[in-house]
Amino acid sequence: MSTFEKLPRHVAIIMDGNGRWAKKHKLKVAMGHRQGTEALRSIIRESSDLGIEALSLYAFSTENWKREAQEVEALMGLILEFFASEIDELDEKNVCIRILGDKDGLPQRQRDVLYDAEERTGQNTGLKLNIAINYGGRAEIVRASQALAKKALAGEIKPEEIDEAMLARELYTKDLPDVDLLIRTSGEMRLSNFLLYQCAYAEFLFPEVLWPDFDLAAYHEALHAFGNRERRFGGR
Ligand code: FPP
Repeated sequence: MSTFEKLPRHVAIIMDGNGRWAKKHKLKVAMGHRQGTEALRSIIRESSDLGIEALSLYAFSTENWKREAQEVEALMGLILEFFASEIDELDEKNVCIRILGDKDGLPQRQRDVLYDAEERTGQNTGLKLNIAINYGGRAEIVRASQALAKKALAGEIKPEEIDEAMLARELYTKDLPDVDLLIRTSGEMRLSNFLLYQCAYAEFLFPEVLWPDFDLAAYHEALHAFGNRERRFGGR
């Protein structure tokens, strides 16, 4: 077992490269996502074992609906399969699951499974596992702004009382620490509308490896790279 210089409290991952992995292996794109789900299982387990406080994974963005129906269906199917096969172990490991994004915009079966997972594990005190599904960072900020506007109109708050912390409390990630480390696999260097507000001071890492090949060695390497970075948060 590796020892780490300094572990991030909150790791966020954009799991990119499933499609290219499938192409490279001459397989259908759905098989890339299936293999990507295996990587996701082991990274969740490892994060829990290492005692990382929060792990946020980008599984399905609000823009992913534009993909071919077959691919969207495959991803929706994998979400059901994942929760059916993992929920007992995650609950046993004291993992607290939270879905980031608009669950109500999902098909009924997925919606039910996600609400159940949140309810079943909501009191757990181990790894905070956030899975972004039907999620967009800008939409999240708009939603928070609307919630604050409603409170102001109802006289519960004054507009000038709104500060960064108050807005953060209206985000899906309320009560979680800011993202310390953002990893995007496959060499792409974009944020793609993921956790825009929460990544303000995150360290970014862009390993070349495609997501299905992101193994524990690659994860450890990223954690060491984070531990060796000097963070100044705008100071000297
Ligand atoms: C990006 O790769 C990945 C996605 C859009 C989906 C990620 C989903 C999973 C890993 C599994 C499903 C999630 C759960 C919770 C079971 P891409 O297809 O854009 O890759 P490409 O850029 O190489 O085409």
